[in-house]
Amino acid sequence: MKNLVVYYSRSGNTETVAQEISKTVRGQLKKIELIKDIGFAWAAFSSVLGLKGKIKTNDLNVKDYENIFIGFPVWAGRSSTPINTLLDETDFTGKNVFVFITQADDKTPNSVFESIAARVETKGGRVIDNLFIQTNMKNPLTSEQVRESVLNWINKNIAAV
Ligand SMILES: Cc1cc2nc3c(=O)[nH]c(=O)nc-3n(C[C@H](O)[C@H](O)[C@H](O)COP(=O)(O)O)c2cc1C
Repeated sequence: MKNLVVYYSRSGNTETVAQEISKTVRGQLKKIELIKDIGFAWAAFSSVLGLKGKIKTNDLNVKDYENIFIGFPVWAGRSSTPINTLLDETDFTGKNVFVFITQADDKTPNSVFESIAARVETKGGRVIDNLFIQTNMKNPLTSEQVRESVLNWINKNIAAV
């Protein structure tokens, strides 16, 4: 089974979750980066508009992988803009996709999960499951804090793939 963990993280929380997932599933880790750093206001506004962030060369080759884990933070109740670009530019035909999201709010971001699932399907893939991790804007997540949730999530899904 070949696993790819691809993520965007502006302030490190999603990166911590991505690293933990990659360790757990022995997956290749791939960070998506914006060409230019983005301020809070534009990040929020552009995600409300559903814009696609300008990311560094997208050399993401998903062909060699069966399972693709996609992670990002919620911005203004929506998917963050670098992930909009990734979803738009990637062919997910035949891939199992797992989505992990971090956000400060404690309510599961169902509308974001639904929006991602629809876009993955349009690109030929299938979202198998979602993981939501609540974060705190003052204190960055630690790997110890996410280890158990990640482990439980992966164990639950081993049977599904
Ligand atoms: C521009 C911006 C908008 C945000 N909007 C929301 C939001 O609507 N709801 C929420 O719960 N958290 C929101 N957050 C908090 C982030 O989702 C949260 O801190 C996340 O864990 C950051 O992940 P990162 O460290 O990987 O960038 C927002 C953060 C930023 C920077």
